[in-house]
Amino acid sequence: MTHRRMVLTGILGVALAASADGAALAQEAVKIGLVLPMTGPFASTGRQIDAAVKLFLAREGAVHGGRKLEVILKDDAGNADATRRLAQELVVNDKVSVLAGFGLTPLAMATAQIATQAKVPEVVMAAATASITEASPYIVRTSFTLPQASEPMADWAWANGIKKVFTVVTDYGPGIDAETSFAGKFKAAGGSVESVRVPLRNPDFAPFLQRVSEAKPDALFVFVPSGVGAQFMKQFVERGLDKAGIKLIGPGDVVDDDILEGIGEVALGAITTHHYSAAHDSPANKAFVADFQKANPGMRPNFMAVGGYDGMRLVAEALKATKGDASGEKLIAAMKGASWESPRGPVRIDPETRDIIQNVYVRKTQKVGSELHNVEFATIPNVKDPVKARK
Ligand code: DHB
Repeated sequence: MTHRRMVLTGILGVALAASADGAALAQEAVKIGLVLPMTGPFASTGRQIDAAVKLFLAREGAVHGGRKLEVILKDDAGNADATRRLAQELVVNDKVSVLAGFGLTPLAMATAQIATQAKVPEVVMAAATASITEASPYIVRTSFTLPQASEPMADWAWANGIKKVFTVVTDYGPGIDAETSFAGKFKAAGGSVESVRVPLRNPDFAPFLQRVSEAKPDALFVFVPSGVGAQFMKQFVERGLDKAGIKLIGPGDVVDDDILEGIGEVALGAITTHHYSAAHDSPANKAFVADFQKANPGMRPNFMAVGGYDGMRLVAEALKATKGDASGEKLIAAMKGASWESPRGPVRIDPETRDIIQNVYVRKTQKVGSELHNVEFATIPNVKDPVKARK
């Protein structure tokens, strides 16, 4: 090779490498590590979110901000040690730009330190203990918080003549949040509250429901994690509480849309406050539910599905805003203040807390045609997590 030819090749080489770099960046996928309980007692949460993430990509396409989204799904079976290990592997080996999912509070908490150290956004699509977003500046949430859903229940109960409430909650972060936020507000209004907590693992509600039956409250306020409501309601009937004239109230988790048909008519008349019902009356939600059911025959999207769908929307919107730059600091900055029309209604990420600001709806479980639905009849608009709002 002549000297001149060598120089030319060299220049050409650099030019080629440079353009290949640009193209490579555009072609190089932005990886999202999705960690969910796909097996074990909380698999319904994983199934719902996984289906919603796939639906988002099918409806909205995979390319956002010029970058292709690639989702790597891992099953933590609801075990926090597994979540931590999988999140670590996703960051170190797979070089994901975003961690997402997190079906339960302990699983979201187990990942917080990894998100902080790696400067990788952790999009919490399910877990709902208020304090989660304080565990890392890289955590952002598209689900809800239990105080956000439970305080409006206290207002409704007091305004509707309920004076004495018994609360039954699952004994961990979200249950304690539900109990304390409801009881705090309801007692301040003048009501009286008695409370019991039921273990998260292998819960037996019977002895607790026996106590409720003896106390004869006006209402039973219940929080159980998504999917567990079926077992709770079965034992509720077995204890004869359906015939005792005690009103069933609480955040919407106990009558979640995934299991409502299975629970059956015993749920009729339950009053719950929550951010999503599959029966939400908007064109965006009607299209979302129809597309979800077409892609997943026999399944109805619940609030977990909407948390997953909006989590993908948030990543897509952030990538658009950064013009494809997937560095953690840029992405998290772009996520703060993001707003869009969700199947649940209008939502916005609170730039201060990285929690979601959303409507909370008061709903009554009733028959719509031949199906059971949580029918919204009142709206409390733009609710922030009240625990952080008070700080
Ligand atoms: C959590 C889990 C749930 O299934 C739910 O409905 C609400 C909160 C949680 O672990 O944070």
